[in-house]
Amino acid sequence: MSKRILVTGSSNIDLMLSTPYIPAPGETMISDGAYAFTSGGKGANTAVAVSNLGAEAVFCSRVGDDAYGDKLLELFASKGIDTRFIRVDRLEQTGLAVVLLEKGGTNRIVVYPGANKKINESDIEAAFGAYPDAVMTQFEINREAIVTAARTAAYEGLPFFVDAGPADPEFPLGKLERVEVFSPNENETEILTGIRPNSLDNCLRASMALCSKVDIRYVVLKLGARGCYVYDGKYCDLISPFDVNAVDTTAAGDAFTAALAVEYLNSGDIISAARFANAVGALTVTRPGSLASIPTRDEVADFIARRG
Ligand code: RIB
Repeated sequence: MSKRILVTGSSNIDLMLSTPYIPAPGETMISDGAYAFTSGGKGANTAVAVSNLGAEAVFCSRVGDDAYGDKLLELFASKGIDTRFIRVDRLEQTGLAVVLLEKGGTNRIVVYPGANKKINESDIEAAFGAYPDAVMTQFEINREAIVTAARTAAYEGLPFFVDAGPADPEFPLGKLERVEVFSPNENETEILTGIRPNSLDNCLRASMALCSKVDIRYVVLKLGARGCYVYDGKYCDLISPFDVNAVDTTAAGDAFTAALAVEYLNSGDIISAARFANAVGALTVTRPGSLASIPTRDEVADFIARRG
């Protein structure tokens, strides 16, 4: 039977704009590509990935009472996501992210949180009424909501998965009671620990530093084109990446963590889950867009079969 995963997090409209390089202060530059308004947000990307990969997604979020909010709600429903715990906020606009996309797929993102910042403790508590098997969060909503999700998950004995983006150096990590998997990317790891995970030694040091701040069962560092690094408090493993031509890395980290959670809940094996998540991340970066670039389970199976 498929697992039901409660995703607590943000919903945004993403304005994607390609740029040949990042403009200097005071510089005006002309984009070298088309722009597009697409659907995204770290929470929304996660919920869509959970659903695309065959688990049941229950999404707790907020959108504004505007055309973007309507569009997102429609899209989530079309993806089979349980939208009962997404509130339409009458006072705030739907969140917006401006995504600057450089050649090679690297991005820089500025987020206007809008309705996302109103997601509160009672929104989160209500969503546990969906009787999830596990809970996932990211750091794009307010701290109290995240801490409530962690506390309630611990109280109910549910595995809690954290995607640490965007990293908040002031986040009270010690308040996350028990984390099954904590997964930051390279920048987030550096912000949270002061250690850049650019060597195996540094991956280990950073993972140990995270475990000294939070009760974590597995740290999984997302290393982009270098794959991912898994640490369980004793042993570590570097899981090699799939070699692909990246065109847009937006949402790849969100899709990776969702895939890791879905597969780990199915198999109980963090290493095979990390391999599967690497495949999902790799496929996501080969496609433009945020939420629209996230593959389905069949596409991932086909990709793995072709790559061996
Ligand atoms: O992780 C990618 C996401 O970050 C984008 O979809 C954007 O909305 C920001 O939240």
